[in-house]
Amino acid sequence: MGSYLLVQVFAGRFGRTGDIPERHFVLTAGHVTIGRSAAGEGLPMAKGTSAGLLDNQQAQSVFKHELLRGYALPFVVMTASKIPGRRAMVVDGYAGRGRYDDGRPASAELLLQAALRARTSTQVEVLLVERRRQDYRRLSTVAAEYRDQGLQVEAFHGQVQDHLPEIVSRAGGVPLFLFLDPCGAILPFVELHCLLRRARGSAWPRTEALLNFSADFTRSAAGVLHKNLLDHAAIQAMDAVCGGPWWRKVALEAHKSSRRGDWESAAEAVVTEYARRLGAATNMKHVVVPVRRQMHHQPVYHLVFLTRGEHGIWVFGHSAAAARRAWLDVVGPGADPPRRGAVQPRRVPAGR
Ligand SMILES: C[S@@+](CC[C@H](N)C(=O)[O-])C[C@H]1O[C@@H](n2cnc3c(N)ncnc32)[C@H](O)[C@@H]1O
Repeated sequence: MGSYLLVQVFAGRFGRTGDIPERHFVLTAGHVTIGRSAAGEGLPMAKGTSAGLLDNQQAQSVFKHELLRGYALPFVVMTASKIPGRRAMVVDGYAGRGRYDDGRPASAELLLQAALRARTSTQVEVLLVERRRQDYRRLSTVAAEYRDQGLQVEAFHGQVQDHLPEIVSRAGGVPLFLFLDPCGAILPFVELHCLLRRARGSAWPRTEALLNFSADFTRSAAGVLHKNLLDHAAIQAMDAVCGGPWWRKVALEAHKSSRRGDWESAAEAVVTEYARRLGAATNMKHVVVPVRRQMHHQPVYHLVFLTRGEHGIWVFGHSAAAARRAWLDVVGPGADPPRRGAVQPRRVPAGR
C-alpha cells in the first residue's frame, strides 16, 4: 500500500499537515514531485555536472548532506528549547571519515557544524561511530578539532549496533537525532524497533531518525529471490532488515506488474511498506524520499525519516526542498529530462 505524506516548503510558516500551503511539494513513496513554485521561479540556474561541481557518484550524497545541513540545526534548537538545560544529542552511526579529502564536510562534520552553530542557545552532544579503522582515525581527527572548540564530541570505533546501548543511555532525558547511513543493509527491524519504541518510545524528549534504505540492496535481494536462490545471504539479510519475509511477495508482485519489467518498482514498494511498518511499530510518522544519481535513474537509496512531531514533518519538508534544489544544481535538470510517464505534481492526502 502506498503511503503518502504532505509536507510544506517555502511557506515561511509551520502548520498542521492538513493545511495545504500555496507553495508546496509532495513526497510520495516513490517520487519527490515538486510544485511549480518550489521547482521554478527564484531558483539558481542549474549548472550540471559539466560545470565540474561534483561527479555523478557524488550527486547521490549531495541530497542527504544538504538535508542534514538544513535539518540538524532546527532540530536541536527547537526540540532542546522544550527541555530544561536546552540539551540535545545527534548521532551519526555510519559516519565514514567525516570530511572529504578536498575539505568538504561529510555527514559527521555537517552535524558538528550544526552543533557549533547552535551553541549560543543549545548544548549539543555529537556521537559518531565508524567501523573501518582507517576511516575512524580520520573521523577522530575531525572530531578533535570540534572538541577543541568546546563541543561535546565523541567518536567510537566499531559496529554501531554495539555502541547503541551506551548512546541511548547517554541520550536519557534529551532529544535525539539518529542518522543511520550504511552502504548496504540497515540495522535489523527488531533492533530499530527496540531502539525507537522500547528505549525511546515517548513523544518527549523527541526522537527522530533518518535512515538510508538501500535500493541497490533491495534490487539485488529481489533479483536473487526471483532466481529462487532462497539460501542466498542477501535474502536472509533482507528478511532481518524488514522484520520478516513479507517483502518477498511485495517485491515480486511489484516487479511482475511493472511496465518495464525492471526492479525499480519493487524497491519502491518494499521501502514504502517498510516505512509504514516501522512507523506503525514505533508510533512514528514517516516520510520516504528517493535519491537518484540522475533525474531519470532508478533511486540509489531512499531516505526514511521518522518523527513523532508534526512540526518535524514540516521542517523536514523545508530542508528536503532545499536539498532537492542543491541536487538539481549539481545534476542539472536539462541534462537528463524526466522520463516519459513520470508522476506529475499533485496533492495527495496525508498518510497518518
Ligand atoms: C555510506 S558510508 C557513510 C557516509 C557518511 N555517512 C556520509 O554521508 O558522509 C557508510 C560507512 O559506514 C561504515 N560502516 C559499515 N557498517 C558499519 C557498522 N555496522 N557500524 C559502523 N559503521 C559501519 C562504513 O565503513 C562506511 O564508512
